[in-house]
Amino acid sequence: MTLPGRRRIENRMRERGLRVVMLGCGNVGSEVARLLWEQADDYVARLGAPLDLVGVAVRRIDRARGVDLPTELFTTDAHSLVTRGDVDVVIEVIGGIEPARSLILAALESGASVVTANKALLAEDGATLFEAAAKAGRDVYFEAAVAAAIPIIRPLRESLAGDKVRRVLGIVNGTTNFILDRMDTSGAGFEEALAEAQSLGYAEADPTADVEGFDAAAKAAILASLAFHTRVTTADVHREGITDVSASDVVSARQLGSVVKLLAICEREEGASGDTVSVRVHPAMIPRSHPLASVHEAYNAVFVESEAAGRLMFYGPGAGGAPTASAVLGDVVTVARNRLREVTGVGESTYAQCAISPMGDTITRYHVALDVDDKPGVLAAVAQLFAEHGVSIQTVRQEGRGDDAQLVVVTHSAPDAALGATVEALRSMGSVRGVTSVMRVEGGAE
Ligand code: HSE
Repeated sequence: MTLPGRRRIENRMRERGLRVVMLGCGNVGSEVARLLWEQADDYVARLGAPLDLVGVAVRRIDRARGVDLPTELFTTDAHSLVTRGDVDVVIEVIGGIEPARSLILAALESGASVVTANKALLAEDGATLFEAAAKAGRDVYFEAAVAAAIPIIRPLRESLAGDKVRRVLGIVNGTTNFILDRMDTSGAGFEEALAEAQSLGYAEADPTADVEGFDAAAKAAILASLAFHTRVTTADVHREGITDVSASDVVSARQLGSVVKLLAICEREEGASGDTVSVRVHPAMIPRSHPLASVHEAYNAVFVESEAAGRLMFYGPGAGGAPTASAVLGDVVTVARNRLREVTGVGESTYAQCAISPMGDTITRYHVALDVDDKPGVLAAVAQLFAEHGVSIQTVRQEGRGDDAQLVVVTHSAPDAALGATVEALRSMGSVRGVTSVMRVEGGAE
């Protein structure tokens, strides 16, 4: 388009304002609508044009909401709303795969840019959305999809675009962080800490998505895609939740000067035939001196290690209506600016196309606690078994307790499959009475 042509469109949009519609009006949507209303003058000043909320699609119009909006804004016909042809920005806060995907695609085809908080959709099929956006010459922005208010998508996509990210370690699920933090500070077991999280409203009545790591795995896929310029989907993420973390794991961690956290770990490994990427979510022990160990309650944090910048940590509230709305509106302002200038922001970057490394090949470290017979040769036999699997021991601590002893072994790095096989072999050793705690170790010196 010629410059005068672009100026004409820009002036027209400035005069009429930018038309925004929203899909969903729950916790997050209500806060988005409230902020759009309360900060309207600031948005005009920042953009040079008003942001007008012209429609909200909901399932039921008569439901009570956290925001008082004119009834005529509401519709149950989301498809007609996004395809009405004069919408500049569509905010999608309904979540889930369908109908969110079809609605976003229809919105892009109809000429709107999209702001979404939909981590599940982005992690499962982000490529389809980004391709449609590129074809339509529009934006898909999604800062709210990972760790809500914490700016992490923009830093990875833009601020670190001149650097090379090696590793991302994140506490990206507030519910599980709250539970593990309670287990650490009060000695509670998993069930007791979960019940407390539920009573305080941190955990859902059905906590599966959080405690089994599904929510964190979707966020890990999104972070890894951005960090390593490689398409990573939910199916590529190795996922373990926290339901098997016991009070004795937490005590074991404490004895090592560590704490148990559910981590999303995204790593790039250099290999002879190209870089590989491993993406995983599992509980791990991290030293109390690590910055992520000081992330308490339901807070989130993302720790990024990159070649030139070094170590960065992004910290804050990772859930909740208002924090998520803050991230959504930051994106709305950005895509609105782009719409006014008839440009698009940064799109998908997948040039690196690193291979995804299977979990068994991923290099990890283990902490293993076991009860063994306290008699000659047992320690040597245990050490021998680690050696037979090619696993080097970093530290070993033994505590005699009469006719049995507790052994706590921390390994050096080894392929995860070798570590897993070592633990299986320990379980069937005659002199091992029980393996009481097995957990991966992250973030410490080797
Ligand atoms: N349920 C998530 C959490 C928030 O507990 O962090 C939404 O992703």
